[in-house]
Amino acid sequence: MEEDFDVRLVEEVKYYRPAPEYRKNAWTDDYERAYAEFLADPVGFWERQAHHLEWFRPWDSVREWDYPYARWFVGAKLNITHNCLDRHVADHRRNKVALIWRGDEGEERIYTYYKLWREVNRFANGLRSLGVKKGDRVCIYMPVVPEQAIAMLACARIGAVHSVVFGGFGAQALTTRLNDAETKVVITADIGYRRGKRIPLITIVEDAVIDAPSVERIVILRRQQEYPVDIHPERETDFYELMEGQPFECAPEVMDAEDPFFILYTSGSTGKPKGIVHACGGYMVGAHYTTRHVFDFKDNDVYWCTADPGWITGHTYVVYGPLMVGGTVVLVEGTPDYPDPGAFWKIIEDLGVTIFYTAPTAIRMFMKVGEQWPDKYDLRSLRVLGSVGEPLNPEAFEWYYRVIGKGRCPIVDTWWQTETGMQMITTMIGEPMRPGFAGRPIPGVVADVVNKAGESVPAGTGGLLVIREPWPAMLRTVYGDDARYRQYWETVPGCYLAGDLAIKDKDGYIMVIGRADDLIIVSGHNIGTAEVESALVSHHAVAEAAVIGKPDPLKGNQIKAFVILKLGQAPSERLKNDLVYQVRMMLGPFAVPSEIEFVDTLPKTRSGKIMRRVLKARELGVDPGDLSTLEE
Ligand code: WT7
Repeated sequence: MEEDFDVRLVEEVKYYRPAPEYRKNAWTDDYERAYAEFLADPVGFWERQAHHLEWFRPWDSVREWDYPYARWFVGAKLNITHNCLDRHVADHRRNKVALIWRGDEGEERIYTYYKLWREVNRFANGLRSLGVKKGDRVCIYMPVVPEQAIAMLACARIGAVHSVVFGGFGAQALTTRLNDAETKVVITADIGYRRGKRIPLITIVEDAVIDAPSVERIVILRRQQEYPVDIHPERETDFYELMEGQPFECAPEVMDAEDPFFILYTSGSTGKPKGIVHACGGYMVGAHYTTRHVFDFKDNDVYWCTADPGWITGHTYVVYGPLMVGGTVVLVEGTPDYPDPGAFWKIIEDLGVTIFYTAPTAIRMFMKVGEQWPDKYDLRSLRVLGSVGEPLNPEAFEWYYRVIGKGRCPIVDTWWQTETGMQMITTMIGEPMRPGFAGRPIPGVVADVVNKAGESVPAGTGGLLVIREPWPAMLRTVYGDDARYRQYWETVPGCYLAGDLAIKDKDGYIMVIGRADDLIIVSGHNIGTAEVESALVSHHAVAEAAVIGKPDPLKGNQIKAFVILKLGQAPSERLKNDLVYQVRMMLGPFAVPSEIEFVDTLPKTRSGKIMRRVLKARELGVDPGDLSTLEE
């Protein structure tokens, strides 16, 4: 390596190099060549990827780019579940294990591809019997159980647009999402389990639908056999009763490549979450290609992604991607430290996991509790490690590499978003890894670090992370708000603006620093300051609130709230607790501020916008930067 003279990136450039066999045997066995081939013919590159999948009708054209709108595989017909299930059922994977589920209490259930295919089809027929049709929106609000994946696949089978809402969201957050998508059916469960405790879901749903008039029916998976919850037949249906008597064949809906596939909500910088809309064909190709190439997925791999299918990571890399490649997928309801901090390592040993994909916040928690936990287990089955959700800091990289991968396994630190649908930046298997840097854009993606005018900034200088060319799994719109979609492409001329700050080194490796906007990433969860603020302000004692993210060694960030009380209200511990409770009930436990400070004023611009940047700088004792717009 040449010396790096840049003043802003001063650390010594240190690369980790996996054994040469990794590269030799990888699906992408030469990054530079694959990237050059892609650049020379982007459309041909994606067309070759699409040929790995089965289609009911081929495309007339691969890509139509009418800035800022892209259409992919135009004219093609498909159903993703055909590639996830039918295709394997028809070949040597028929009896291969598709899903191994571990419950919170250690119980295990196994589905072969054939069994999963049958269950999906029966549930899909059940949904059809309720009158669910192509294009109808179905909300899935479930714990991590096989039925959660079955519900998603069943929607995909009949062309219903699923909107999966993470089971940790509160009633108000659920109502907002039900209404925004004009949801017809909600699929839920009586309870989820977390650290041995029962988390009621059905009561939250029953609460949430009171203000969601579009909801016609609630399908309930009843897990508690001894004390089953009541089914109110005028509105509710039991999950397995719905399947009973249904044939296990279900003709897949023939989907157009550009038909909407699913909606997934993500926090926005206003209080309203954005319903990110993905399309059938392009998402299928992007998910398949990245699962195969980024993880270097082989037929005998045992793959475990620890994300909840309620997030995009779970959509693309628990359910759709790994099933399309015919993989064996481990699905776990439990938490990393229950019943003890060895829980994850025990699962890896028990099941012989070869590819493990988790979040930096979990890795940092494991670092804190110590090496004695992983050291109790045999982790030699591991072949590839992955990370996603927030920056993997060099200390966490090194620990993950040494203690879990035993200095042997490549780490793919994958940067992407709900909006991108698929992984975009990482270090492909076998390539030299630079801790702290996600890596380079994968073949198929053109990423860059730019200034506000869209010009590349010099190596070593911070800038905005953008994508310069459309990609198949990109979002197509924001549900019901296309203007918000256009903002992604129209803020920086000619580029998709990701909303992150980044630095590129002279070799093209990208370090993602964090958000450039009003989002806070807490333990890998994307939380809008405005959502928390509006939950606080809805409390009768609160006049105004502002929320900032503060760096936290474990969670990445924690939330601090500044609150102005209404006249006649006095600050108290009791009130702090009430506010915490308010946020917990409205948004869910992960959005709860860890600090609340009562203040008399908030720094504002002359036009009345709260300057969170100033609050944050004061809190951290650093220079607040340009204050010319501050009103005093
Ligand atoms: C934001 C997207 C799709 C992953 C799950 C989160 C941050 C994601 C990385 C990474 C640094 C990362 C970014 C991004 N992020 N992966 N490898 N390194 N930051 O999806 O909720 O849509 O959040 O997560 O800030 O913009 P999401």
